[in-house]
Amino acid sequence: MSVDTKTIIPDYLWTIDTGHNNDNQALYNLCLQAESILKKRFPEPQDLSFFGSYMTSIFKEYNILTFTDKNFFKLYYCLLDNIEPFLHKDKSYVIQAWANIFRSGEFIDWHGHWEESDSVIHGYYCVNANNTTTSYRFVNNKNVVYNVDNKNGLLVFGRSAGDEHRSSEWMQSGQRITIAFDIVPIDRVVNTNYNHYIPFKRQLT
Ligand SMILES: [Fe+2]
Repeated sequence: MSVDTKTIIPDYLWTIDTGHNNDNQALYNLCLQAESILKKRFPEPQDLSFFGSYMTSIFKEYNILTFTDKNFFKLYYCLLDNIEPFLHKDKSYVIQAWANIFRSGEFIDWHGHWEESDSVIHGYYCVNANNTTTSYRFVNNKNVVYNVDNKNGLLVFGRSAGDEHRSSEWMQSGQRITIAFDIVPIDRVVNTNYNHYIPFKRQLT
């Protein structure tokens, strides 16, 4: 575990301050470019209330890490360096990643992702999310809420096994941007576009 790793929920949720490893201003601009490209290709759903933002709602249609720019590839290696130690040694993994782009007044409400049996790591990287909070709770104990205080460059990741999470409402100028991801054992991937997931391990077994 890196010395910068902080445990938010024991054996479940961690944060790592990646410092200045990534150019967040470049990633911010690139995510907005990706959004304008995708909007020409995929129509905006009529109801965004579940996903909270356009880029979240079409997450199955793209993988933000495959947009060809070195800043996305640097982020990919940053994720790999920091998260690979948390993966099962004997499994092969792939990753899907998408941008959450929230404008003033937008947020994503309580939601969960995967089942414990899927052994997925879910998380997000803060591109522009200073002074916001992401809250976690477990479906079998909704009274206890764990808060992550976000800041740019913070990597947040953990197990996806019975939690729900939500973001605070974005009240600042510009866009709140995070890059979210699922790191999935390859045998749990079903019914997806063949160009959606990319490998996430240096040694595939
Ligand atoms: Fe989520």
